[in-house]
Amino acid sequence: MTGVVGRLVEWTAPCPTAIIQSMPSDLDAALVERHSIGDAFHVLVFEHGDVARNSRPGQFVMLKPGRSTALPLRRPFSIMDVDAERETFSVFMKVVGAQTQALAHLRIGQTARCLGPLGRSFQSPQSPSLPLLIGGGFGIAPLLLLGAVLRRDAYEPRVFYGGRTIADLALRRTLEDLGFSLVLATEDGSLGFKGLITAALEEHLDSCTLPTSLFACGPGPMLAAVARIAARRGLPAQVSVDPWMGCGMGTCLGCVVPTRKANEERPRYRCACTEGPVFESSEVVWTDDRASPSRARETTP
Ligand SMILES: Cc1cc2nc3c(=O)[nH]c(=O)nc-3n(C[C@H](O)[C@H](O)[C@H](O)COP(=O)(O)OP(=O)(O)OC[C@H]3O[C@@H](n4cnc5c(N)ncnc54)[C@H](O)[C@@H]3O)c2cc1C
Ligand code: FES
Repeated sequence: MTGVVGRLVEWTAPCPTAIIQSMPSDLDAALVERHSIGDAFHVLVFEHGDVARNSRPGQFVMLKPGRSTALPLRRPFSIMDVDAERETFSVFMKVVGAQTQALAHLRIGQTARCLGPLGRSFQSPQSPSLPLLIGGGFGIAPLLLLGAVLRRDAYEPRVFYGGRTIADLALRRTLEDLGFSLVLATEDGSLGFKGLITAALEEHLDSCTLPTSLFACGPGPMLAAVARIAARRGLPAQVSVDPWMGCGMGTCLGCVVPTRKANEERPRYRCACTEGPVFESSEVVWTDDRASPSRARETTP
């Protein structure tokens, strides 16, 4: 795996009018490395200079294998790591359907059509604080890049990584090798804290006197729980949602998420692909404990 993050772009303050933070480019990106962790999880390293140079933590790419028309729609994947010198970026992929299966089994040298970097990134904490990064399942992916950037900026992030069982914590060794302070949780108790990762987070917060900021990516119910914890304790929290996405560019409206900013009278649907996927947790309207319409959807082309 490309491991340590290479030269990174500067992490700028949020621009109120900028929705997409850098111009995405659409290229055939060659697969240069694959690291498989069992059958289900794969780290794929692609060549794409623009994504490698311009990505910020929390941004994503839209990928589809080759130029095949059998699977016309691209799929979104968080950027997990970049290496600006090698002009490569990595994604961490869980195989769940046809498109992820095809991407995960590209041969070295084969290409994926790749559009990116896309979306609104995580923003750096507004005041000095201990960043707690909470990842559930494949939601851990963008937190690796976020953690690397925070460390470069002299923060000492702590990573909370949860799954149903030990097999879901496929990147735990990578996180250990990178030297992150790590709290693991599994619902069946096969590794680390027994229970939900948000319960482990609460336990930590009960004994922590430092100012903290929360950054989370994972299943909708986990994000909703993080939002509730943040609201109860008055903590700033940013969450990355993962609804179904068709275009990644704000045109299909497949990815809308109900949101409401403090100054808005009523909720508004916002496109997660252009105005997210990262939102302040207090802005998301957590109906039915989720901001991930995708979880109920049928398989799509
Ligand atoms: C911004 C963003 C970042 C993402 N980052 C990653 C990542 O880093 N690694 C990764 O493995 N996946 C990531 N995903 C999810 C990934 O895009 C889907 O798993 C993929 O689209 C599935 O495509 P498929 O054709 O293989 O499966 P499909 O046939 O489309 O779906 C198979 C099953 O997976 C479920 N599914 C599809 N999309 C999602 C989703 N977004 N969330 C939860 N369940 C879903 C479907 O409901 C269905 O049950 C991300 C999604 C978004 C929106
Ligand atoms: S994915 Fe098409 S509008 Fe967001």
